[in-house]
Amino acid sequence: MAEIRLEKVTKVFWEMPRAAGMGLWDQIKAMLRPHGYSAYLRQVSALEAGRAVGTPESTGYVKAMDGVDLLIRDGETISLVGPSACGKTTLLRVVAGLLEPDQGQIYFDGRPMVAVPAKDRGIGMVFQNYALYPHMRSFENLAFTFRVRDREEEIPERVRVTSEIMGVGFQVLLSRKPPTLSGGEQQRVAIARCIVRDPSVFLFDEPLANLDAKLRSQTRVEIKRLLRRFAITAIYVTHDQVEAIALGDRIAVMKEGQISQVGTYREVYGAPANTFVAGFVGSPAMNFYGGEVANGQARFADFDWPLSQALRSGINVGRRVVLGIRPEHITIGENEGISALVEVVEPLINERAQIVHVTLGQEPCVLKIGRHFPLIPGDRVRLQFDPQRVQFFDAGTEERLE
Ligand SMILES: Nc1ncnc2c1ncn2[C@@H]1O[C@H](COP(=O)(O)OP(=O)(O)O)[C@@H](O)[C@H]1O
Ligand SMILES: [Mg+2]
Repeated sequence: MAEIRLEKVTKVFWEMPRAAGMGLWDQIKAMLRPHGYSAYLRQVSALEAGRAVGTPESTGYVKAMDGVDLLIRDGETISLVGPSACGKTTLLRVVAGLLEPDQGQIYFDGRPMVAVPAKDRGIGMVFQNYALYPHMRSFENLAFTFRVRDREEEIPERVRVTSEIMGVGFQVLLSRKPPTLSGGEQQRVAIARCIVRDPSVFLFDEPLANLDAKLRSQTRVEIKRLLRRFAITAIYVTHDQVEAIALGDRIAVMKEGQISQVGTYREVYGAPANTFVAGFVGSPAMNFYGGEVANGQARFADFDWPLSQALRSGINVGRRVVLGIRPEHITIGENEGISALVEVVEPLINERAQIVHVTLGQEPCVLKIGRHFPLIPGDRVRLQFDPQRVQFFDAGTEERLE
């Protein structure tokens, strides 16, 4: 059991110049080249002063984590989502103790962890590539940590309990070596190898990304059962929103080394903090239109939108705003609505729905509607945005306006 708290954690990677065929000496010289090393020192002092640093291109540094504050409550699973290279793996590695942060602190139940070695943090980590020892039978993969620690006598009982937790069909995998197992089976062994050590924290780094769709949903259910049964504090990194929703009690959305928003799916989907979160969460993505506030309404290239009383009092005339509306919150009206031209229709057979791509004047718009509207490319339709669901953002700061 553990509560995990990250406080202002920053991790910068210095991209070492790596030209093809460069020897070690050349690399060292390149490191010490005036713009290289002094830029590094500038970066460090800028970091210390809390100032923003340059782009990776201009400096050769990547701020993989940028002052991250995050609380994972005891027994809670947080799904961590975000685009590639936003720092998700780095965050897990810092929590696990595999990387030391440049700044900030990590607490487990209030205890500072930065100086505590990885092996003493009680963490089980499951990676995308299963990272099993290929030459050892699965049983030995589970037993390994006990053997190297001289705790052989615990092995039979631990493996027995773990097999029981892993459920039907796991026992038979134990006598086989990883290369003879399917991807899903290897991932089960990898998960079992974490459980056997009785961790107080579970870290998952896109564990299902390499599995096909059927195995993915099976293994997802297994992981869910596991997390529910023991209420182990966990961080679950994924690209897949369905997984994030299924497994996470709350979702944290990350962008360029920072946490943009943390909340339940309902909160993050219904009241996104900014345009990034609004566009990242939900599928197909939210539609956005840039416009300007005029008298009591917002003007866009192809339509006007009346502002609610609350927004009207808070937003000055002339302010640049972005209107956001999700595809599932648009309907097709009889005679009234914003005129649009149908371009492409994609049926979603399972959901008895269709994704319709239209253009509103010059701008694209995606809607998700029931199959009972027979539409073909070239049709003219009238769109109605659900007024309860329309969101406004500031065009400059990109933050949500209420
Ligand atoms: N060991 C490393 N050395 C240099 N740069 C790194 C290293 N690890 C990660 N990075 C950089 O840090 C950023 C975040 O990486 P990562 O945490 O792996 O992202 P994610 O898991 O979200 O895809 C990326 O720009 C990546 O290139
Ligand atoms: Mg990653």
